[in-house]
Amino acid sequence: MLKRTQIKDLLAAEHTIDAVLIKGWVKTKRDSKDFSFVEVNDGSTLKNIQVIANNTLVNYSEIKKLTTGSSVAVTGALVESAGGKQKYEIKADSIEIYGVAPDDYPLQKKGMSDEFLRTIAHLRPRTNKYGAAFRVRSRLSYAIHNFFQSRGFVYVHTPLLTAADCEGAGEMFQVTTLDLKNPPKLPNGEVDYSKDFFGTQAHLTVSGQLNGEMYACALGNIYTFGPTFRAENSNTQRHAAEFWMIEPEMAFADIHDNMDLAEDMVRYLVKDIMENCADDLDLFERFVDPTLQQTLKNIVDNSFARITYTEAIEIMQKSGKKFEYKPEYGIDMQTEHERFLAEEYFKRPVIVRDYPKEIKAFYMKLNDDGKTVAAMDVLVPRIGELIGGSQREDRYDVLLKRMNELKMDVANYGWYLDSRKYGTVPHAGFGLGFERMMMLVTGIANIRDTIPFPRTPKSINF
Ligand code: 4AD
Ligand code: MG
Repeated sequence: MLKRTQIKDLLAAEHTIDAVLIKGWVKTKRDSKDFSFVEVNDGSTLKNIQVIANNTLVNYSEIKKLTTGSSVAVTGALVESAGGKQKYEIKADSIEIYGVAPDDYPLQKKGMSDEFLRTIAHLRPRTNKYGAAFRVRSRLSYAIHNFFQSRGFVYVHTPLLTAADCEGAGEMFQVTTLDLKNPPKLPNGEVDYSKDFFGTQAHLTVSGQLNGEMYACALGNIYTFGPTFRAENSNTQRHAAEFWMIEPEMAFADIHDNMDLAEDMVRYLVKDIMENCADDLDLFERFVDPTLQQTLKNIVDNSFARITYTEAIEIMQKSGKKFEYKPEYGIDMQTEHERFLAEEYFKRPVIVRDYPKEIKAFYMKLNDDGKTVAAMDVLVPRIGELIGGSQREDRYDVLLKRMNELKMDVANYGWYLDSRKYGTVPHAGFGLGFERMMMLVTGIANIRDTIPFPRTPKSINF
């Protein structure tokens, strides 16, 4: 019995092979007098393999009816191709048809819009562009693990269900098994969450960081890589309600170690994709972003700019550029500011650090000026914020004071404070938005097209 070979491997074969078996979907078919050319793709590579089906095949009358999208198994010989377009083709001995795709198969035409393809997200991975995107997504995940594992970071699985709010931005999806039509009530009329599944209010996590910190304060260097959820009602090209985040956390590290790690990681990932997904990147360069490879090469070849938040505001004020939202000390930077800095001013990624404490989360280390925190954001051309991170506040009393200022329910975070009580250490980490990294390496402009089944406000099909 022949085993199925991936088309990717056949196209890279060193010599012809007498007997091969491939399985895939018909891309196109052309008939001539005595035979048909059938282009088959199996998803292992962008390229199709050409199959020659002679009219002597027993089911040739069925083969002639094959349509785009039909599924087949082909056995035959891998031979050198007579036509100049490809090195090899398969001379079929048999073609078994699993299923034909009727005329209403939606992927007949070339050049379908991304908007249309989003309405058939269950079929779009069969197109060249989305096949390429999701092969890149797989390789990028693998490269992330390689990067951290080769540096001795331990992979930690942090929970998705939580009673904590890491970012304190109130953007959490509530999880409950209470009857929403008739929830149990306290005497004061509020919902009695002691009757809920966990005996308290629970949500989907916005970040694995708080749990990750506990493991860094035991195992040294750790990273997480998993889904996170945000009920941000913002319909933008770079926000999704469900997205994947990579969160490294390092014990005995400060903000500068953190910036070094972020920069090393981004450059490593870009280089890995350039080396291992060259065909797919060519497609993105041709059909999505003509400057893609130049942008990526620029990231690999140059170090990132590094400035403080105060310097960033000054640069924008002096630039003479009209921003929709005026740059002033204290503002939370908008996408237009982030993009200006990376794309127009520095023309490469830039790391901005030391933000005013008022616009950042409770856990960030207060700097000696008493005004700013040791936060860092990595901003990149086209996208803006790619990474957000910080050195963590490791002083028990300073952290407690900050939590109280923010009126946090401190009793709920006793476990978190314990890490500062028992053998506290300086530590730092960051979060990389995985889909934004996908946007960076593929040039894809909308986050909805970088994740298989996107979840955004008013949209949870498939
Ligand atoms: O800057 P953020 O909110 O940082 C944190 O969550 C920290 N707890 C991370 C840490 O220090 N361990 O989010 C980190 C990154 C952002 O820079 C962005 O790339 C991405 O996550 N991100 C989103 N990506 C897609 N859709 C959204 N709604 C996102 N919100 C954040
Ligand atoms: Mg952020």
